[in-house]
Amino acid sequence: MTSLRSVCHLALLALTCVVRASGDHSCPALECWYLKDKVEKESLTRGPSQVKSLLHIRTEGQPASAPPSSADPAVQRVYAVADPAGTLCHRSPGGSIRKPFCELSHFQPQPSTIKWAASLAEDLSPVYLQASWFSAAVRGLDGLHGTSSIMRDPAGTGELDVVLSITSATLVVQSRLGEPVLLDCQFWADPASPLYESGFAVEWRYQSRGSGRLLVAYDGKADRLSGSPEKGATLDFEALHRNGNASLILQEAQVRHSGTYICMVYLPHLLAQITMELEITEPPSLSIQPSRLPLAAPGQILTVHCEASGFAPHSLELSWELKGQDGKTRSLGAGRLSGHRQGWDGTYSQGTWLDLDMSDPKLGDGGEVTCVAEHPGGTRRAGVALRLAGFSTLSMEDSMAMVAVALVLYGLIKFVSWTVLPSGSNGAQETEKVSQFAKQRAKHNILSIFDLTTWTSPQKEN
Ligand SMILES: *[C@@H]1O[C@H](CO)[C@@H](O)[C@H](O)[C@H]1NC(C)=O
Repeated sequence: MTSLRSVCHLALLALTCVVRASGDHSCPALECWYLKDKVEKESLTRGPSQVKSLLHIRTEGQPASAPPSSADPAVQRVYAVADPAGTLCHRSPGGSIRKPFCELSHFQPQPSTIKWAASLAEDLSPVYLQASWFSAAVRGLDGLHGTSSIMRDPAGTGELDVVLSITSATLVVQSRLGEPVLLDCQFWADPASPLYESGFAVEWRYQSRGSGRLLVAYDGKADRLSGSPEKGATLDFEALHRNGNASLILQEAQVRHSGTYICMVYLPHLLAQITMELEITEPPSLSIQPSRLPLAAPGQILTVHCEASGFAPHSLELSWELKGQDGKTRSLGAGRLSGHRQGWDGTYSQGTWLDLDMSDPKLGDGGEVTCVAEHPGGTRRAGVALRLAGFSTLSMEDSMAMVAVALVLYGLIKFVSWTVLPSGSNGAQETEKVSQFAKQRAKHNILSIFDLTTWTSPQKEN
């Protein structure tokens, strides 16, 4: 019984081995542009300022990536990188020939000068820092994932160890107004490094149009915030200490939050940073005035106004179109556009007026006049019915309204004839006569309305 069980175990083990071997779990080799530093540029008077390099990445429990079958002769430098957490693993989806974008350069460790990271630089062996240091910045193919790593080359042999890595899955973020926003930033520090125990500091910066400001500065060693963080911006300090989750949480997206965010992580003498873009995108709300157009007579000019409000960013295309009775859509141009106005919350509004000249053949026999607002956040439409007298049949409501008006008119005339005209003996006859006349006229009015409806109806009968 036991032997059977162990045979089963063995078989299972063999199977997992086969599965592991067949599936390539190793990190693909990473091609990076090695950017020469100033000294190298000066010593090599000729040659490009950047050369191709290749990083073979070895993660925990996985073999190093195999050299690519067709070795690129342009590759001038080859490195072996120990990256236990696999932070530099950027796989191309579905064997794509495009590669992640990567830059490699020399890095100079420095004691940090900022005060919330100054406590980190105490008691440190300078021997550890006396090595070749590199930094790599990778941007994944999807444009959303990125890594920034600091690596140490202890013997100068091209065998690098990742000491500090920051990754983000939100290099580009779009958010609607009022929603919570998470800007992802995870850091990993090598537990084997003497820097690991010395603590860390995290800093978030915001930049937009040349000006920048500090959002959050946190000294992880002293567990202390430096100053008060920007209102509405927080970190999950528990997650930060538990697994290096330094993500920034913006409680409620506002237009002023659009811009560049930089997540910076300090270890003593080391700094890694990663940059993200946040765009608050809110499509416009449309309102159209008047909400109901009067029945238009030939030769008349009606003006319609469309107001797009509450949108961001401010790029917007406003236009008008007419969907005719025949179902065809015709452009009516942009109309008369107003300038942009910015509201207290930073959102924009813009309007357009359209003059509808009933003698314009483009209007055909009417239809639906639609205001179209094209915005990066989506396209919005608002429409109003355009009915031309003599073309469109009267709606039920219109006929009812006309009958009602006629009846009111009739009542009014009757009322006037009773009150204004004297009710004397010889006035009675007069009143009778007038009211008779009014009755007849009102009846005639109603009749003529009905005539109108029947006169406009034939179109339907056709
Ligand atoms: C990081 O922390 C934030 C806030 O608690 C959380 O929403 C997010 O899922 C965390 N990210 C990871 C990768 O754990």
